[in-house]
Amino acid sequence: MVKIAPSILSADFTRLGDEVRAISRAGADYVHIDVMDGHFVPNLTFGPPVIKALRGCTDLPLDVHLMISNPDPYIAVYAEAGGDLIGVHAEACTHLHRTLQCIREHDKKASVTLNPHTPLCSIEYVLDMVSQVLIMSVNPGFGGQKYIPASTGKIARLKKMIDDRGLNVDIEVDGGITGDSIGPVARAGANVFVSGTGVFKHPEGYAEAIKEMRKNAGG
Ligand code: DX5
Ligand code: ZN
Repeated sequence: MVKIAPSILSADFTRLGDEVRAISRAGADYVHIDVMDGHFVPNLTFGPPVIKALRGCTDLPLDVHLMISNPDPYIAVYAEAGGDLIGVHAEACTHLHRTLQCIREHDKKASVTLNPHTPLCSIEYVLDMVSQVLIMSVNPGFGGQKYIPASTGKIARLKKMIDDRGLNVDIEVDGGITGDSIGPVARAGANVFVSGTGVFKHPEGYAEAIKEMRKNAGG
């Protein structure tokens, strides 16, 4: 099933609650929240108190994308703040298996994220532990970057890996996704689409952006 996950990184921060309510009304499936620590990525954004505040603004699942080094001590904090899916970067976790186990022990959906250079074999032995794999199609840290074309083949290979093992794992893609770029990415096998500028800067508004993406993704 196609899911659209607007990234609030491109929202108007002076009216964040209203923005989250607006994308909820506009037909979004998840609210994608980019947590950055200024260390794992060269940018800083928001943390648990902001997520906790946004939890009260929507019934949609909160898809928390942790771009932070060594996330282990913070899993409980983000779970308590109200994240529904908690995603960690494979590159940031020395003991990835343990970290994913910890997310599951908090009754949250575990998501594992791969940077553009990170091979799929790095998640071979944890694939059965996650609800979702997030393929970064830009280098993380900033919105508004261009989709890296090699991501499409990577998604297709991941889809085969999941299907060959009979698993039920969503493939989320993040970076440079718009109504124009979404088609081939969906056909490669991705079904959860993060979009920041593609939704929040769409000239015809959020509902139109989400509708167009869903249509071009085939459902
Ligand atoms: C980048 C973030 C993305 C970002 C995507 O590090 O993980 O979620 O908001 O922005 P767009 O859709 O503008 O590429
Ligand atoms: Zn993200």
